[in-house]
Amino acid sequence: MKTNDFINSLCNNLMQAPLAGYTDVGFRYLCAKYNCGLIVSEMVSAMSLKQKNKVAFDMLGMELPQDTKSKVAVQLFGHDPNVFAEVVKYDEIQNFDAIDINMGCPVPKVTRNGEGSALMLDPKKASAIIEACVKNSGKPVSVKFRKGYTDNNVNAVEFAKMCQDSGACMITVHGRTKEQMYSGVADWDIIGQVVNAVDIPVYANGDVKTKEDVDKVLEQTGAFGVAIGRGSGGKPWLFAELSGQQADVNPFDDIKIHYQLMLKHLPSNVVAGEMKKHIGAYLKGKRGVKPLLNEVFKTRTVDEQLALLEKYFM
Ligand SMILES: Cc1cc2nc3c(=O)[nH]c(=O)nc-3n(C[C@H](O)[C@H](O)[C@H](O)COP(=O)(O)O)c2cc1C
Repeated sequence: MKTNDFINSLCNNLMQAPLAGYTDVGFRYLCAKYNCGLIVSEMVSAMSLKQKNKVAFDMLGMELPQDTKSKVAVQLFGHDPNVFAEVVKYDEIQNFDAIDINMGCPVPKVTRNGEGSALMLDPKKASAIIEACVKNSGKPVSVKFRKGYTDNNVNAVEFAKMCQDSGACMITVHGRTKEQMYSGVADWDIIGQVVNAVDIPVYANGDVKTKEDVDKVLEQTGAFGVAIGRGSGGKPWLFAELSGQQADVNPFDDIKIHYQLMLKHLPSNVVAGEMKKHIGAYLKGKRGVKPLLNEVFKTRTVDEQLALLEKYFM
């Protein structure tokens, strides 16, 4: 593996994978607090940024603990190289340490525009997008994609080589096809094949949730790092455990920080809606929380939610 300045600047090989609706500004802060090497934002539409859509810009908040060693990438999705070329120059994008391009999203409303995983069917367009980002951003550019589009069209290895040739400094490979969405088991063998085929660092992604999984996937694939998606939902402190950081975890303190940072960047009614998912994740598996969660889901304001949580945690 050939390393590069960006990879050398990371404090470890753990990545918080992008999760729409979850890796928001508050959650990114908490991943950094718990020493996650690289944190990737929710996917943001390049076209919405070009059209100056406020909701898209609201997703680009940057809040990090003082003296953090974590790096943060913004993930963009889209289909037009010219749009990428323009938006990667914006100050709000330049604020991030790196740019990740989404070429793995399986959702029909994205793929029907030739975006996300649909780009795996159009490597020429995908290459033009990567080149546009590399040329115009001056930032490290990475790409996240899947095993392939369908089981009959597994092209992760060729796609990875194309990413490398187009200037990507690293890639993340999710071991499922677009057709599989999030079902079945991630194929780590294909990730190993990609690692053998390229010189750039590869993050292995899919079904990594524990220290044992991390050790196993790195051993099996030879990947540089692991990208964890659902496994850290509601527990950003997983990164402390995985990186060997000593941490005193107080979930309610973290939840309050999460609220504070969200409120700094988003309208309060939006925060109240967004935080319901997070609260569900933070409290998942805790005994006797069902009535509390039912109450939280009925709330309309942040104050109502905080009052309920206060009662639960006191
Ligand atoms: C709710 C949800 C939202 C996601 N949003 C994104 C996204 O915005 N960008 C992206 O590249 N992948 C997204 N993914 C895919 C994850 O980053 C990851 O590839 C996938 O969940 C497999 O990893 P895991 O098994 O560790 O969760 C999303 C997945 C889920 C479940």
